Amino acid sequence: MRVIIYTGKGGVGKTSVAAATALRSAALGNRTAIISTDAAHSLGDSLEMQLSGKMTNVAKNLDAIEVDMQYELETRWKEIQTYLADFLASQGMDDVTAKEMAVFPGMELMSALFYIEEWHKEKKYEVVVMDTAPTADTLRLLAFPDTANWYFDRLFHMLRNVIRVARATVGKLMTTPLPTEKFLEDLESLKTRLARVHDILTDPEITSIRLVVNPEKMVITETQRAYTYLCLYGYTVESIVINRVIPEELSKGYFNDKLIEQKKYLKMIDEVFSPLKTFRAKMMPREVLGTKALALLADELFAGEDPTKVFSKESPMKMYSEENAEVLALKLPFPMDQKLELYTRKDDLTVQLGPFKKSIALPYSMTNKKILGAEMDDGWLVIRFEGEPHAKEKGRKRTRGRKEARKAR
Ligand SMILES: Nc1ncnc2c1ncn2[C@@H]1O[C@H](COP(=O)(O)OP(=O)(O)O)[C@@H](O)[C@H]1O
Ligand SMILES: [Mg+2]
Repeated sequence: MRVIIYTGKGGVGKTSVAAATALRSAALGNRTAIISTDAAHSLGDSLEMQLSGKMTNVAKNLDAIEVDMQYELETRWKEIQTYLADFLASQGMDDVTAKEMAVFPGMELMSALFYIEEWHKEKKYEVVVMDTAPTADTLRLLAFPDTANWYFDRLFHMLRNVIRVARATVGKLMTTPLPTEKFLEDLESLKTRLARVHDILTDPEITSIRLVVNPEKMVITETQRAYTYLCLYGYTVESIVINRVIPEELSKGYFNDKLIEQKKYLKMIDEVFSPLKTFRAKMMPREVLGTKALALLADELFAGEDPTKVFSKESPMKMYSEENAEVLALKLPFPMDQKLELYTRKDDLTVQLGPFKKSIALPYSMTNKKILGAEMDDGWLVIRFEGEPHAKEKGRKRTRGRKEARKAR
């Protein structure tokens, strides 16, 4: 299965480009799904079709879904939500509020991710295109599998307390409902399934992130930031889509200044995102609505190329050995002016960059090792851990590591 995720600032053309990609993929004969995770769904408007929270066939080889939280709650989350609501009600909360409160943050995000996991397991589609909400929400979505462990541990902790208190009060006060078998099973499987989603989404052979931009300063700045955070979470940013480029022939009169400005920002995009693969589409004379207009947008974007190809497999995380050091390198293309902090605890490294936090499970060679230092080197954060004295076997690894490091630069 191939997963292509389009992300970017609001209004840049994510939905249009995602729909155009999915239609082209289906036309090329791939069993294709397009999934919208933006609560303000506009995928149906773009395709000019009625979509819903259930999979709908919209063209030959193409199914589409707009994740609908209400539907997800009634199906996927029924058991968990019912228990949490009963529990909150037993604590004195009124029924309506309890029901509301039992929608815990993350259910929505997880639903979208679970579709991907299910399709992968069932081998249902060859290509999955994801149309996402504007950057901030999407970063939250994509960071979710990473931060979920923290979340689940809290939840398990709370439940253990519920059970403990319930046992201690048997015969006195049995108002607290105990979690059902099914509930605990559901919760267990969530954790495992999220780990699988994480593996799918961070596999560069399967999943690519494509950044959609317009030649405008604010868009570029926001996208640069997103690029860094996506790398931090282990996603492969594979290409960039420059959408709504105003054609040169409009440079007379009113659009003259706009075109001068655009030239500057096109150059800037080229500088900051190079050497990423670039797709480009001009500003169309009409709003891009319906399958015909989307097919034209696809022609414009991909020319004769297959949009489902993997254009880059470079993982944003590398590990290699150096003399006296084990190295972990993280791609952080734009270090920005944010404070960067590193913490280690046994086999775990936490990287805190501004408001974003990432926890990395360290390989055995770096477990319980001191950090010798960290530095930025050409867009890579290079963290050196104290190493073992080298045996012969290690020497071989070292050569490979250096080559990799060179390639990375
Ligand atoms: N290349 C383009 N030329 C003209 N209009 C476009 C182009 N790309 C997108 N649009 C229009 O811009 C609006 C916003 O696009 P949309 O794909 O919904 O952006 P997003 O999903 O990023 O918010 C829509 O009305 C869409 O039809
Ligand atoms: Mg959209």
